[in-house]
Amino acid sequence: MRLLLSVAVLILAFSSFAIASSRSQRAHGAAVFSASGCQHCHSIGGVGGHKGPDLSGVGRRKSKAEMRQQIVFGSKVMPAFGDDLEPGELKDLIAYLKSCREKPANTQHVSTPN
Ligand code: HEC
Repeated sequence: MRLLLSVAVLILAFSSFAIASSRSQRAHGAAVFSASGCQHCHSIGGVGGHKGPDLSGVGRRKSKAEMRQQIVFGSKVMPAFGDDLEPGELKDLIAYLKSCREKPANTQHVSTPN
């Protein structure tokens, strides 16, 4: 019984650590997003520019691999950031973007009973 209890405590301690670390990863990613100039062209949650698409719901649309591709190599209209970001920054930035899963306001056509 005592053994079982300590195993349970260990599991709890470990899982809350895992959650805490991914939360700080996303917080770091959000900081990288604003510090790297992404916000100049992209909005998230109504904050930022409009040269590029709003990324509030990008986590629904794009896989991590697609985001990585876009960020590292850029496109005709978006600069490449592969040389500017440390691997850790890139990883946390993508973790943050993957967590941006808001539904864009203009696509909520589903009628809600009121
Ligand atoms: C000079 C403006 C500009 C900057 C700065 C910029 N982007 Fe972009 N981004 C764009 C444009 C325009 C597009 C969409 C069209 C395209 O790339 O072909 C885009 C597309 C994207 C997409 C794909 C979104 C989708 O829904 O298809 C992601 C993800 C993205 N950018 C992330 C970033 C991140 C992260 C940064 C900062 C490291 C950044 N962008 C900086 C202009 C910019």
